Amino acid sequence: MELKDVLKKRRTIRDFQNKEISMDIIDYAIVNGFKAPTYNHLREWDFVILNQLESKLMLIESENLNKSINLKELEQQFENKDKTMKEMYLDAIPKQKKMILESPTIIVVIFRPKTRVAEAKKLNDLNCLASIWTCIENFLLSLAEHNIYGVTFIPINIETIKKNLGIPDELEIATLIPIGYMAHDAKILRQKTINISERKHYENGKSKKTK
Ligand SMILES: Cc1cc2nc3c(=O)[nH]c(=O)nc-3n(C[C@H](O)[C@H](O)[C@H](O)COP(=O)(O)O)c2cc1C
Repeated sequence: MELKDVLKKRRTIRDFQNKEISMDIIDYAIVNGFKAPTYNHLREWDFVILNQLESKLMLIESENLNKSINLKELEQQFENKDKTMKEMYLDAIPKQKKMILESPTIIVVIFRPKTRVAEAKKLNDLNCLASIWTCIENFLLSLAEHNIYGVTFIPINIETIKKNLGIPDELEIATLIPIGYMAHDAKILRQKTINISERKHYENGKSKKTK
């Protein structure tokens, strides 16, 4: 596939088919993940692959996703917000448990921090986090090339999850990615239309380059 087609194809999907994913495709995406740029040239990244129901239940429990969601309250919370953003949250929030439960595989993406995220004071203290996200994008694009989609979920109770998965204390979790084939009725949300000419800027605040 051409790069532009893969870039267009990758979307966040939260509704999955009950269909296993070949480990060859996951390996391909991990190999491509490791081609991403990295701040210290070391690519200190790891991927944990979860397939067991117990692991999914542990994540749901750790993240307190069993609680019911009041859709009316949720609607009110986003009442005056951007329409595309609101559409996304109203679809996404109620699906957080389901997407973990129904995805055949969840990928836990791990990195070695330069400075602990909670202790970061300068932008470059977070170079480790910036680097792992370039890796994650390569990973997601490579899956999309093979009709596999994912959703990056940032856990809140990271220490509990690390402990339950036996992840060493000195490493950090960047994200959990439930992945899978898109369900036949999967919701593909509208992306916000961006006018690039309004987002491109030159020196001195000029919006158009003058010769
Ligand atoms: C840093 C980051 C955190 C995200 N966290 C979540 C999350 O916790 N739960 C979720 O359902 N989606 C999450 N997403 C997915 C976004 O909602 C999604 O990427 C966004 O709506 C754009 O949609 P698209 O990826 O289809 O273009 C996250 C994405 C990013 C980049």
